[in-house]
Amino acid sequence: MRDAIANLPGSKIRELANAAIGRDDVLAFWFGESDDVTPEPIREAAIASLRRGETFYASNLGLPALREAIAHYVSSLHRPCDASRIAVTSSGVSGLMIAMQALAGPGDEVVAVVPVWPNLTAQPAILGARVKRVPLVVRGGSWTLDLDTLLASISDATRVLLVNAPNNPTGWTLTRDEQRAILAHCRRTGTWIMADEVYERLYFEPQPAAPSFLDIAEPDDRLVVINSFSKSFLMTGWRLGWMVVPETLTATIGHLIEFNTSCAPVFVQRGGITALAHAEEMIRDLRAHTQVCRDTLVPQLMQLPGVQLCTPRGGMYAFFRIAGHDDSFALAKRLVTHGIGLAPGVAFGDEAEGWLRWCFASRDPARLTRGVERLAAALAVLATRAG
Ligand SMILES: Cc1ncc(COP(=O)(O)O)c(C=O)c1O
Repeated sequence: MRDAIANLPGSKIRELANAAIGRDDVLAFWFGESDDVTPEPIREAAIASLRRGETFYASNLGLPALREAIAHYVSSLHRPCDASRIAVTSSGVSGLMIAMQALAGPGDEVVAVVPVWPNLTAQPAILGARVKRVPLVVRGGSWTLDLDTLLASISDATRVLLVNAPNNPTGWTLTRDEQRAILAHCRRTGTWIMADEVYERLYFEPQPAAPSFLDIAEPDDRLVVINSFSKSFLMTGWRLGWMVVPETLTATIGHLIEFNTSCAPVFVQRGGITALAHAEEMIRDLRAHTQVCRDTLVPQLMQLPGVQLCTPRGGMYAFFRIAGHDDSFALAKRLVTHGIGLAPGVAFGDEAEGWLRWCFASRDPARLTRGVERLAAALAVLATRAG
């Protein structure tokens, strides 16, 4: 086996969740998805497609109607974008991998802003690239990017900058000024920006979407933006995403899709077309509900003794640490025995050791309150044992 593969760490979140298999008494907040189902019209569209017998291979880059719908959706939020720049992928994570295959190979340097969802940094490692990590820091009560450090880390030798904002797990979001500085710098060094913007619509500021590189970049900039139906439309199990690329890259991405998945299933794409036809009303409701969830959980967590938490501006996660608990995997494991499932920070990199991630996307916000009660009870027991 290749060393890069043999040395790949497994997902610590999965490891924890596997330890809880068969226990139905655990309130699980460790995965990045809501417990709510996909809206009915989207499910109906997929069912109708299957009834029509749409069970065959489709074109690599996606159904023309879906590529058009995505281009229209992207253009309504950002700068105008032609369908010729859109590739439909079988999930966001598949899009990220395919884009990385196109851009970085053995020995290439990839700079990543961390902590981050571990798949993002595992993918270049699988391909043999070297990942240089630039950590976010907590400053003045917020997760913050040290822009000077980031720019100093990106040189002519850097093939790809990987940045996920709104960020999983911290909720940190790039500002427009930071985006401008990063884009200008990467133009100088010839570095590709791979922007993971799957949480752009789960943004709790007045704007309809978080700042996107697609607001400021030219169509031929070295920019790949990855997006997904998973988070904005409650479609995690469907495995449907897309990427926006410069037109000169589209054909290559199509070839890579052929060799990876060949195409996204047609009935799944039909669901995507319906999702986009109802995008604004669906997302308005989802975002408002997700904000209620955030505003239910965050103040309650902050009331617990020793908790440090920066209110997330986007995404679906509360990322927090508890004074006196520095081993996040050990703590998360103990919490499972108290009936609560949280993701250990160390799953997102050594920089996040000591932290815990709580996904607050929940159909019933009262479930979050029950979780906090369990956490408080568990911490009280742990404090008594420690004392
Ligand atoms: C930052 C980030 N990017 C991409 C994804 C991938 O989403 P999907 O593969 O479900 O489209 C996730 C899922 O959790 C994520 O957190």
